[in-house]
Amino acid sequence: MAIYLDNNATTALDEPVLEAMLPYMGQVTGNPSSVHRFGRMQKDAIEQARELVAQLVGARAEQVIFTSGGTESNNLLLNGFIKKLASKQRVARVAISSIEHMSLLEPAQQLRLAGDNILVDEVAVDETGMISLQSLMQAYNEQTSLISIMSANNETGVIQNLSPLIDFAKERGCFFHSDASQAAGKIPLNFIDSGLHAMTLSAHKLYGPTGIGALVLDKRLPIEKLQYGGVQEKGLRAGTENVPAIVGFGKAAEIAKQTLQSRSDYVRTLRDALEKGLTKFSAVSVFAQSANRLPNTVQFGVDGFDGEALLMQLDRKAIAVSSGSACTSSKTEPSHVLKAMNVPVALANSAIRVSFGKNNTMSDVNAFLSALQDIIEMNRHSAVMMAASVC
Ligand SMILES: Cc1ncc(COP(=O)(O)O)c(C=O)c1O
Repeated sequence: MAIYLDNNATTALDEPVLEAMLPYMGQVTGNPSSVHRFGRMQKDAIEQARELVAQLVGARAEQVIFTSGGTESNNLLLNGFIKKLASKQRVARVAISSIEHMSLLEPAQQLRLAGDNILVDEVAVDETGMISLQSLMQAYNEQTSLISIMSANNETGVIQNLSPLIDFAKERGCFFHSDASQAAGKIPLNFIDSGLHAMTLSAHKLYGPTGIGALVLDKRLPIEKLQYGGVQEKGLRAGTENVPAIVGFGKAAEIAKQTLQSRSDYVRTLRDALEKGLTKFSAVSVFAQSANRLPNTVQFGVDGFDGEALLMQLDRKAIAVSSGSACTSSKTEPSHVLKAMNVPVALANSAIRVSFGKNNTMSDVNAFLSALQDIIEMNRHSAVMMAASVC
């Protein structure tokens, strides 16, 4: 049986989530915008799910806007905000951290290219992957009207201490968004108490379906819709709602809230056991080990190895992990997150991320450690053989 250790990429749909979705994929029909009983049933299902998602993150139901996922939420927030400012002919200046997901960094880069009246500043991280108040102060400018810093990083698992950063923004009348796609369901979140104005969520990171997520939005943060058509989702996201996926997201959020502590404790035991096992390998360095991290995530480099090659060797042994690199056309780039943390390029290129989920067991940890040992030994052996043949 293959072992899946890539739960930050996506998680397996939970059985009760699938059961909740099935009636909406067949028996129950109707467009939620229709006023007849069929339509009303669909609308009710959406509103129930909205409540459940809101409860997971300590928000009010009316603050939840369903989207197609984390990517769309990040694009809607950033582009929607800039579009709103542009409509008022104001200069738009935003500050975003250098370790954000590409679904925020890429639209930010496009905005930079779009015109002189849009400015994007980068908030730097330290070598542990953390963003300090000093770092935010350096990136901040009087014109900055939106700051975006993720709650937890998808690669390293580093959890940001957002509270002082949000306070800083609040004192200056600046809006604050956080991408919580990886944090939701893994650590407690409270949208209202945190003082955030916007938060990104993705269902498939918490055992819900793919293609559904949410932008949690305080109505004080003005955004302009990006697509035109119907008035669904408070007029911010035109298009007939994906009811089965929304219902699934609601169910996944409900279970995530009920099991938050037990699931976190469980994956932490697996992650800690793995890290303990990794100490035996002198070639291994765990990234951001001293920082507060998601309980399920460990990212490490293996000196002298290539992360992509390592991933493929593990895959041949039926173990699925992620590497820290991004393949762009023909060349492999080291992870922008590790680069931002000043990790030496060769070590960053050797990165492997293991992210546990509720379906993993201690035998998966042992299988991973023994596979890694075999691979390291085999490579060392072939290196010795090569050296011998050169002599
Ligand atoms: C931090 C973060 N933000 C956004 C996304 C994008 O989410 P989605 O796949 O739902 O578009 C991901 C997915 O990997 C992520 O890890």
